[in-house]
Order: sequence, then C-alpha cells, then structure tokens
Amino acid sequence: MDFDLTDEQELIRKTAREFTDSEIVEQARQNSREHRFDLELVGKLARQGYLGAIVPSKYGGAGLDYLSYGLVVEEIGRGDSSVRTVVSVQTSLVCSAILKWGTEEQKTHWLPRLCSGEWLGCFGLTEPDTGSDAAKQRTRARRTDSGWVINGAKMWISMGNYAKLALIFAQTDPELGTKGLACFLVDTDQPGFKPSTIEHKMGLHASDTAAISLEDVEVGEDQMLGQVGDGFKVAMSALDSGRYSVAAGCVGVCQGCLEESVKYAKEREQFGKPIASFQLVQAMIAEMALKTDASRMLVWRAGFLKDKGRPNTIETSIAKLHATEAAVECANTAIQVHGGAGYVDDHPVERYFRDVRVTTLYEGTSQIQKLIIGRGLTGVNALVPA
Ligand code: CAA
Repeated sequence: MDFDLTDEQELIRKTAREFTDSEIVEQARQNSREHRFDLELVGKLARQGYLGAIVPSKYGGAGLDYLSYGLVVEEIGRGDSSVRTVVSVQTSLVCSAILKWGTEEQKTHWLPRLCSGEWLGCFGLTEPDTGSDAAKQRTRARRTDSGWVINGAKMWISMGNYAKLALIFAQTDPELGTKGLACFLVDTDQPGFKPSTIEHKMGLHASDTAAISLEDVEVGEDQMLGQVGDGFKVAMSALDSGRYSVAAGCVGVCQGCLEESVKYAKEREQFGKPIASFQLVQAMIAEMALKTDASRMLVWRAGFLKDKGRPNTIETSIAKLHATEAAVECANTAIQVHGGAGYVDDHPVERYFRDVRVTTLYEGTSQIQKLIIGRGLTGVNALVPA
C-alpha cells in the first residue's frame, strides 16, 4: 500500500490550494454576508477546469481521476462550502450522469458547455413530499406524439435559479414503480419551467437553492437520459459521485477547522500563556486531527475504488457518513477553541458551522447512508414498505 500521492496529484492539490486561498477564501465572508451567488467566481472555477474535472478532455473536461478530483474538492471545501456545492452539483450530479448515461449527441451538446461554465446544471430529484424515499416521484411525464410533457414540483435544488440544464426525474407510469422512472434533460428556458429562490437558510448563503415548478414542460424524445426505467439508476449512480464530492468537501472543512484552531490557539493568550499550551485545548485539536485524517482516508479509499472501476456504493456512503458528521463536529469544536471570537464571522469557523450542517442532510441523510451500508453488509433491506 502506498499513501504517497503522485507528483501530478501533488501539483493538482497545490494548485487547488493556491487557487482557493487567492480566489475563494478572500470573498467567502462577504459573499456569505450578502447572500451572493458569485457568478464571476463560477467563471474562474471553470477556467481552472474544476467544473468538469472528471470529464474526459474530448468533451471539454479536465480528464482527472477521482482521487485528484477529491483533492481539488477538498481544497475548495476548505475555502467555501457554497462554492464547493457548485463544483459538486455541476461535476458529479450533472456531468457524471450525462457521461455515464448520455448518447453521443447528448454528451457533445451538453458537456463542453457545462465544463466551460457557459451553462450551469442542476439535479431535480427531491420534491416537496419526496426526500429520502427518492423513488416516490410525484412529478409526472406524459407521452405525447412528439415526446413528453412534464408536470410537477422540485424542492431544495442547488443552482435551480441559474441552471440552463435541469436533470428532471419523473414518473411515466405510477403502476410501474421504480421501473417507470425516467430522467429528462430539460432546457430551463422551456415555457413552464419556473424556479424560485428558497430564502432564510441556516447556511450556504452564497449558494443558490431553488424550488421549481414544472407546468406542461414539453421535452423531445431525444431529451431523455437513458431509457424509461433507468431514471432511478441514473439518480443513484450520480449520487455515488455526488456523495463522494460532498465527503471530500467536508474533509476540507475539517482541515480548515483544524488549521484555524491551531493558529488561534497559538495566538490567543489566557492565564499568561497561549491557550495552545493547555491540555484541554490540545485535546480538542487532537480530536479534530483524528476526524480529519480518518475522513480523508475514507474519501481516498472511495476514490481509489472509483478509479479502479470497482463497486464502491457502500464505501462512498461510509466516506460521506463519516466526513459529513466529522465536519459538523469539527466546526463545533473549532468554535469552542475560538471561544466568543468564534461566534462572529471574524473567523471562518462561524461560517463553517452554519454551512456544513446541511451536508448530513443533502445527497442522502446520515440515516440513509447507514441504511445503505447496513443493507450492503447484511443483505437485508430495511426500507421495504410494510
Ligand atoms: N447505482 C446504480 N443503480 C443503483 C444504485 C447505484 N448506486 N443503487 C440502487 N440502484 C438500482 C438498484 O439496483 C435497483 O435496480 P433494480 O430494480 O433493477 O434491481 C434500483 O436502483 C432500485 O434500488 P433500491 O431498491 O435501492 O431502491 P430504494 O427505493 O430502496 O432506494 C435509497 C433507497 C437508497 C434510500 C434511495 O432512495 C436513496 O438514496 N435515497 C436518498 C435520496 C437522496 O440522496 N436524495 C438527495 C437528493 S439530491 C441533492 O440533495 C442535491 C442538491 O441539489 C442539494
């Protein structure tokens, strides 16, 4: 076993770290304060090749392996989880789905424009009444002479107000259950596609989150991703990539909490000496280091399996479960190290705390990750309806 990164991976990591420090960290506090979705920064991400990192160069991507992609996402996550959300949704949920399930025409039409940042994409799976039980899609697709008409509603959709492309999951025939689900590549300029901003979030203020209403949205036959019956598999395989990306971003949050806490503990003096000299402060730093390292190793293992083309759904869920929970705990601990100073946004730990809370919810809650892991290991499905 070799824990060393290759020279190329080291360079990718170093470049992402420098980019994050110079372009993301500086804006993060102000963007959060102003609830600004920073389109200029999205353009810079694209120019760095970070919006299509795992897409082959022939479709305009950076052609990176999953481990390298994870390194980039970790650094961006250390800078700002709102920005990291853009990378995760665009690259993992949208591009990876098109790459895996798209026809050649669909790939050549959408991928270069998504990788270049000309267009953004969003992932329309969750609905007002459909969260963890993702197969219970109420959005309906009805066949017409020329294609399909979609009616329904989507909820909690990252980048839903800015996307040019929406992956919309819909039921074509409720009697078929999962086998009736389909995924459509919907151009959001299509009449009937109406996004609206979800306000008053706890965190991720610099990330766009939308509710979407779909009223008689017409799509052609060639806008289906995969076939009728593939919809759920499209969603789950995209989430295999998305959960990896969220986990990698959370390693970055853990690392950020650790670095900020070490720095602050060495500067801040109480009882006549730096608080870093107190054993209870060192214990908090050690706990953060442990959680950071363990999360990173789990993410690297999942990335390694993806790069080998081996099954990794369970390992990805383990990485997502551990890294997201660890990031929530590290953010809490980092505020404890900072004391009152951590309760205002002078230090990034305040934003880490608010922004990271959602990661144990989106792209599958921690409870859903446990059920996926438990089912995989026991062979018993705890989710079979009564
Ligand atoms: N890859 C490919 N196919 C898969 C798969 C995977 N990882 N996992 C399951 N499938 C296939 C199965 O093989 C099965 O196929 P067959 O019928 O041919 O056997 C089919 O999909 C149905 O699978 P399940 O029996 O596992 O379906 P289920 O209903 O029991 O799924 C669940 C349960 C795993 C909990 C799933 O519903 C789930 O992951 N829920 C969480 C939903 C979620 O993560 N939502 C996040 C929304 S996106 C978001 O948050 C983004 C944003 O913008 C913020």
